[in-house]
Amino acid sequence: MGTSGTMAGQPETFNYGVVRQFTIMTIFWGIVGMGVGVLIAAQLIWPELNFNTPWLSYGRLRPVHTNTVIFAFGGTALFATSYYVVQRTCQVRLFSDKLAAFTFWGWQLALFLGFFTLPMGFTTTKEYAEYEWPIDILIALVWVSYAVVFFGTIAKRRVKHIYVANWFYGSYILTIAVLHIFNNIEIPVSLWKSYSAYAGVQDAMVQWWYGHNAVGFFLTTSFLGMMYYFVPKQADRPIYSYRLSIVHFWALAFTYMWAGPHHLHYTSLPDWTQALGMVFSLILLAPSWGGMINGIMTVSGAWHKLRTDPILKFLVTALSFYGMATFEGSMMSIRTVNALSHYTDWTVGHVHVGALGWVAMITFGSFYYMIPRLYGRTSMASIKQVELHFWLATLGVVLYISSMWVAGVMQGLMWRATGADGTLTYSFVEGVSATYPLYAIRLIGGLFFLSGMFVMAWNTYRTVKGQPKPNPEVYKYNPDSTDPTLVGPALPQTAPVAAKVVA
Ligand code: HEM
Ligand code: HEM
Repeated sequence: MGTSGTMAGQPETFNYGVVRQFTIMTIFWGIVGMGVGVLIAAQLIWPELNFNTPWLSYGRLRPVHTNTVIFAFGGTALFATSYYVVQRTCQVRLFSDKLAAFTFWGWQLALFLGFFTLPMGFTTTKEYAEYEWPIDILIALVWVSYAVVFFGTIAKRRVKHIYVANWFYGSYILTIAVLHIFNNIEIPVSLWKSYSAYAGVQDAMVQWWYGHNAVGFFLTTSFLGMMYYFVPKQADRPIYSYRLSIVHFWALAFTYMWAGPHHLHYTSLPDWTQALGMVFSLILLAPSWGGMINGIMTVSGAWHKLRTDPILKFLVTALSFYGMATFEGSMMSIRTVNALSHYTDWTVGHVHVGALGWVAMITFGSFYYMIPRLYGRTSMASIKQVELHFWLATLGVVLYISSMWVAGVMQGLMWRATGADGTLTYSFVEGVSATYPLYAIRLIGGLFFLSGMFVMAWNTYRTVKGQPKPNPEVYKYNPDSTDPTLVGPALPQTAPVAAKVVA
């Protein structure tokens, strides 16, 4: 059995083929994207690692890293889990197999094109929207098809209730379509060159309206969709508060839209706009923590499982990092705090609390739940390797973020230090050389995190190939799982219990 097709010769009730394809590609892109992250982290210590080759230079590889980890690793993981969750919770097959296949091939084509054109120097230069216009058009087509498959599946659902995870996934799909289209309005002048339709401060404002909501919807609400399905499933508990999930969903969707200007403090953007961005970013803490608390409290009554279940460890640790990143982000939005943090490695530290701690960890936990079910196995081939991955990842994040916090605060303080006569105490290069040891610690953290990805790939390979015999460990680690086998006829229509995951 490959990544698509049928399981044991039986036609599948659900379209797991496309989910399997997206799952395998997520792991591939994780290794590639984080591999490039490790390379550029090393280049910041040893610049000669660009080998005097333009397409290996830091300036070109940095956007390769950001786009590959966000859109290739994160995006592909979101396709995989959203297609899985929407089928399970609606109890129907995807709306259209053909269109779903188009989203897989189209998305992968866009990612490969981006991966090769950015090092060649083809870029719009807009952060997180660097892909040039032909790729933008392809992405828009894929995204509209994604929306049709996702909402089409919801429309033909056999369960009356729309489970909350789908609300989160749905809002991300809708919002990203709007953001992508409006931020990428550009005038092509050749096949690989275009100019933005916006200029000056309007361009900056549209770009960070996009940039911040890319964080808000691509890296947050979507992954909360993952959280709302996989945490209750792995903990085998209903979500803590269904009411809270609805309240924080609407509050989050409304508030995120206004927070973009905190990326443009002390610029030529009007002051009132910056103040507005700051206030909405502070308000944003409440709905963000609403989600975190709802996820963590779901585990109450099952805390003992944390001792032995590395999958649950991944999920709960991810939620803790989510809480940390959002608290930190709200603080960094305060103009006086931003005066210290902006341009420093503090921002990079904040980014990776969210990216490694939240986005990657919630993905790992969810995938370890999903992969055995996609391939009809009782568990991952090795639970011990899941545990090993958990510790490699945790150690990696901690080394990465703590070194960047220290580096960031140190840089901010060195840049603003003045002597009695008002002259700068430190030259810029003194700040750079003081940062080297911290860059080395970040690199070690990145290597830990990347090696965890390899452990995951190996474990997944063995799981896909089939374990030699059923793994008795699974019962030890998840003794009271009530999951039905996922191959076979769909479950009969059930009266939805609002606070329970229905599938
Ligand atoms: C092995 C893991 C990783 C390593 C070693 C790594 C390393 C780096 C480095 C060196 C930079 C450039 C920082 C600078 O310009 O000063 C960077 C930027 C960035 N990385 Fe990573 N990264 C990793 C994983 C990830 C993941 C999984 C994500 C997202 C899901 C991510 C998202 C980003 C983003 C958004 C930026 C741009 C930050 C900014 O502009 O402030 N990274 N990363
Ligand atoms: C309440 C939630 C959050 C708030 C208020 C917030 C706020 C901020 C602020 C103030 C900055 C620095 C802007 C600057 O000085 O240039 C920033 C940067 C950033 N944050 Fe957050 N953050 C939040 C959550 C998150 C999460 C959960 C993630 C990732 C999953 C994330 C990813 C990023 C990225 C990628 C950047 C760098 C943007 C750039 O390229 O400059 N943030 N955030």
